[in-house]
Amino acid sequence: MSGPALQMRGVTKTYGTGALAYTALKGVDLQVDRGEFLMLVGPSGSGKTTLLSLMGCVLSPTSGEAYLFGEPLHGRTESQLPPLRLRYIGFIFQGHNLLPSLTATENVALTLELRGYSHRDAVKEAHHVLDRVGLLDKRESLPEDLSGGQRQRVAVARAIAGRPPLVLADEPTAALDAQSGMQVTTLLKELATELGNTVLVVTHDNRIFHLADRTIHIEDGRIVPPPRA
Ligand SMILES: Nc1ncnc2c1ncn2[C@@H]1O[C@H](COP(=O)(O)OP(=O)(O)OP(=O)(O)O)[C@@H](O)[C@H]1O
Ligand SMILES: [Mg+2]
Repeated sequence: MSGPALQMRGVTKTYGTGALAYTALKGVDLQVDRGEFLMLVGPSGSGKTTLLSLMGCVLSPTSGEAYLFGEPLHGRTESQLPPLRLRYIGFIFQGHNLLPSLTATENVALTLELRGYSHRDAVKEAHHVLDRVGLLDKRESLPEDLSGGQRQRVAVARAIAGRPPLVLADEPTAALDAQSGMQVTTLLKELATELGNTVLVVTHDNRIFHLADRTIHIEDGRIVPPPRA
């Protein structure tokens, strides 16, 4: 693992082909240093989720160069991406995306088992991270028995479990009230600082902007300078 957390040069992403082709990213140049806590903001449809999906090894770039901790992401087929995703990425989604039939512990442990942890080690790490997000007492609860903020804290625990070097969050506070949104983001920032994760949060939520080390603005598939206030 070497180099900055992420480097992109002239990255484009086109969905579909022929008459239906749509270019969602039109040449993105971006460097993210290790340990940064970034926010990505921009209008609906500007390409935020697309950019996050490229960083998260869910989609491959159509052209340009992208490196995740020094490893090239371009020139790979999408079937070559899951191993990279497991190694480098923790995800937090807008809806918590927890599996409804699994307890908090099982939701966190499952991701770790996919990474090769034994069941026992996965449960141990799951309890550790649930403790860190203040939910050890809810470890046997199903998602439906947790509040929205608690579910999103389980999602944070799942994303940081096993210390993936890059944590990506797509509008993690969108479904939360102001207070829970602030709590979840503050918690994520504290844990990332302590564990040394690099974090990128997509958000429309101006109540949490001040927590960012740097804010990246995207418009119509391009990174743009911040709008003047
Ligand atoms: N699978 C797809 N096939 C075709 N076009 C797509 C696909 N996914 C996204 N797009 C298009 O690419 C553009 C960027 O979409 P994206 O989801 O990245 O935007 P976004 O900034 O995350 O928007 P929002 O804030 O609404 O979530 C949009 O015009 C969208 O319609
Ligand atoms: Mg989106």
